[in-house]
Amino acid sequence: MADAMIQIDAVSHRYTGKQGRIDALNAVSLSFRPGELALVTGPSGSGKTTLLLAVGGMRRPTEGTVRVGGDDLYALTAAERARFRAAHIGFVFQTLELIPYLSAFENVLLAATPRGAGQTETRQRAEQRLVDLGLADRLHHKPRQLSQGERQRVAIARAMLNGPKVILADEPSGNLDPDNAHAAFAALRAFADAGGTVLVATHSTLHHDQADRVVTLRGGVVADTVHESIHV
Ligand SMILES: Nc1ncnc2c1ncn2[C@@H]1O[C@H](COP(=O)(O)OP(=O)(O)OP(=O)(O)O)[C@@H](O)[C@H]1O
Ligand SMILES: [Mg+2]
Repeated sequence: MADAMIQIDAVSHRYTGKQGRIDALNAVSLSFRPGELALVTGPSGSGKTTLLLAVGGMRRPTEGTVRVGGDDLYALTAAERARFRAAHIGFVFQTLELIPYLSAFENVLLAATPRGAGQTETRQRAEQRLVDLGLADRLHHKPRQLSQGERQRVAIARAMLNGPKVILADEPSGNLDPDNAHAAFAALRAFADAGGTVLVATHSTLHHDQADRVVTLRGGVVADTVHESIHV
């Protein structure tokens, strides 16, 4: 598909180690378009995180290709891939990885280049991302002074700082109460509505109605794809 934002072709991933071999992904082919928010569900161990890491340029598949915005990620050199990732892909992990000694604002700015972090335009953008996520009066709080849901939104603001094409979120609403989970999800939905592509790996069925599509993995194979009716 020419207009795919993410194009995954026949991707397999095998982990090999002392415990033997695990086929985490088996010939997965999927494509996602701009403006699409897709949930990736499936039981624990079904390959969701492995798939997100492959799409994020962080885990080279044993076989197959991953294209993001037309670029074949694993045909790039490691340095090119790192640059591509910084410019075009935002990540939100369940552990959030906020720096405890920095404020919400400074944590968002971490996603900027060293030069960008000093620029007024970048700083205004960092602030705006936090304001958009309802954190206008939490800019200078440290992570420990924030609720889990607020930390979550800081991590989402950071993922959005550079105006990426794609956001990959692994269990972003884990440990959140429904209101906070909803706020986090609304931000991802808005990002997709503005033309980005979002993949959310989750066990939760809470947000199925806000997704354009639900992809279910089982044993590293795409078991089912449900296209939701148009979200509101
Ligand atoms: N670094 C690794 N080395 C070896 N095996 C791994 C590694 N990471 C994952 N696996 C195995 O690969 C399979 C897929 O793991 P993955 O983390 O992608 O699953 P998941 O769907 O994200 O699960 P969960 O819902 O628990 O997060 C599992 O059987 C897991 O044990
Ligand atoms: Mg996982």
